[in-house]
Amino acid sequence: MSPRGSRWGMHDPEAIRGDFPAISSRTSGEPPAYLDSACMSLTPRAVLDAMEEYYREYPGCAGRSVHRWSEEVTRRYQEARETFARFLGSPGPSQLVHVRNATEAINAVARGIPWRKGDRVLLTDQEHNSNLVIWQHLRATRGIRLGILPLPPDRPFDPERFEEELARGVRLVSFFHASNMDGRTLPAREIVERAHDRGVEVLLDGCQAVPHQRIDLGRLGVDYYALSFHKMLGPTGTGLLYGAPGKLEALAPWILGGETVAWSEYDRHELLPPPARFEAGLQNYAGVLGARAAVDYLGAIDAGDLAAHELSLQRRTRAGLETVPGLRSLGLPEDAERGSIFAFTLEGIDPHDAALFLDQGHGVLVRSGMNCVHSWYRARGLEGNLRASFYLYTTPREVDRLIEGVRELREALDRGGAPGPLPS
Ligand code: ALA
Repeated sequence: MSPRGSRWGMHDPEAIRGDFPAISSRTSGEPPAYLDSACMSLTPRAVLDAMEEYYREYPGCAGRSVHRWSEEVTRRYQEARETFARFLGSPGPSQLVHVRNATEAINAVARGIPWRKGDRVLLTDQEHNSNLVIWQHLRATRGIRLGILPLPPDRPFDPERFEEELARGVRLVSFFHASNMDGRTLPAREIVERAHDRGVEVLLDGCQAVPHQRIDLGRLGVDYYALSFHKMLGPTGTGLLYGAPGKLEALAPWILGGETVAWSEYDRHELLPPPARFEAGLQNYAGVLGARAAVDYLGAIDAGDLAAHELSLQRRTRAGLETVPGLRSLGLPEDAERGSIFAFTLEGIDPHDAALFLDQGHGVLVRSGMNCVHSWYRARGLEGNLRASFYLYTTPREVDRLIEGVRELREALDRGGAPGPLPS
């Protein structure tokens, strides 16, 4: 079977756009050019159907009752975990815990490790708040220390600088895998190897990596991995925490209750082994089954063709925008090192005002501001930027709409005209 969305060995977004109601089921007019997939990807019909099917056909709770609906959802919930394990190269399904999103997964590790006062956690200087705020909280409440590794502006990573930090003593390295700010991908395997050589554990936030490249967690050897399905065609409120064999057993559960224990008496209980001990209370069955449909959909896309498609959109955007006066793009020099993200500023206008202009005037939807990486911008006295991000349904025409919109905005600014009307 040929990969979904590929024609003549190339990824063709037009071949799959019909699968996405948000951009194909409009009754009138051209749909918006959705260039904010790094925040939240669009959802194919198969995912919506899977969620609706659960509520319509077998709306039971897994692992508890013995009736047919409960049996059905229990089976499918387990199958979903097995599907995720195969897709991610996890040694087994029990290494995967269902969580709401990557933020919850990172919090789970942070709250679950038995810290000793003075333990040091190493972050990069480009982490999302999801991988910064919880560590600052633990610094205040548990006495851990934080190290910040500066990333170089001209290449993805500086191994010598990393080694220097490791030599200063680190208990856990907690890095993004691919950046939501500028699209850079860190050399995950090298990071894991260097850290393990010194007996240091590694947690990676794979939110921006898994949607765009095939990851083999077993081969990567990482200790913990976090992801959100809402960036890879799945529903909001669904994600995974991966723990390498033996790692989840060592984490203290962060929430306890029904389905986490084998039994309880008035004064004691026995915890179930992972992952059950971490999944307290009724779970988001519809969401997990929707996420399974998302992974089935994504698994049928050729990852190499998708990467080539995203690179060609990156090149097109850059060629069309970099000659705009006063426009500065943010990111590594090579297009191939910017992933599916084109981030930029336009002199003379606040990024949020520019984003509103693009939406209202051109139906182009981009993100604006500090992309939840306030620390990086504030350390440099920057106000934030605009960010266009691409995915498997993004077309060259949508990129052209962005380019036209930004050029028109530049002209309006040069004429001294307010690029309005903007909401106050
Ligand atoms: N991490 C999400 C983004 O970058 C929220 O837009």
